[in-house]
Amino acid sequence: GAPVNADVSQLQPGQMLTVAWRGKPVWIVRRTPEMINGLAPLDKELRDPASQQSEQPEYCKNPTRAVNSEYLVVVGVCTHLGCAPLYRPAIGSPDVGADWQGGFFCPCHGSRFDLAGRVFQSVPAPTNLEIPPHHYLTDSLIRIG
Ligand code: FES
Repeated sequence: GAPVNADVSQLQPGQMLTVAWRGKPVWIVRRTPEMINGLAPLDKELRDPASQQSEQPEYCKNPTRAVNSEYLVVVGVCTHLGCAPLYRPAIGSPDVGADWQGGFFCPCHGSRFDLAGRVFQSVPAPTNLEIPPHHYLTDSLIRIG
């Protein structure tokens, strides 16, 4: 499939936008400093915190799974059976749980992922969400694919 460009110039901190790439949704989340700082403390609750098993480009095999930690670029397809997880950035989101720190929640069988798309332990999804190949054309234009 052809690459697609995502313009993030209007994306506010904490917001997500979706672009279609190879027939799949790709989400781009502009993470706040609080969201970024909240990732490392979750490591012990995650199945694969260092992304050893998951699909991502080598240049995104890092603690925020990103080229630029401010922007998460991730394929919006659950690694369990392919449902669309929901973006639930709020701490304590009522449909996920009081201890929720923000991330993605799959309504099909309850898989949970953090704000780097990393899967929690004790859920059906086996691996972290996929990070697609991408690079920056400008500070606010990301090419996916
Ligand atoms: Fe997402 Fe099963 S498809 S938890």
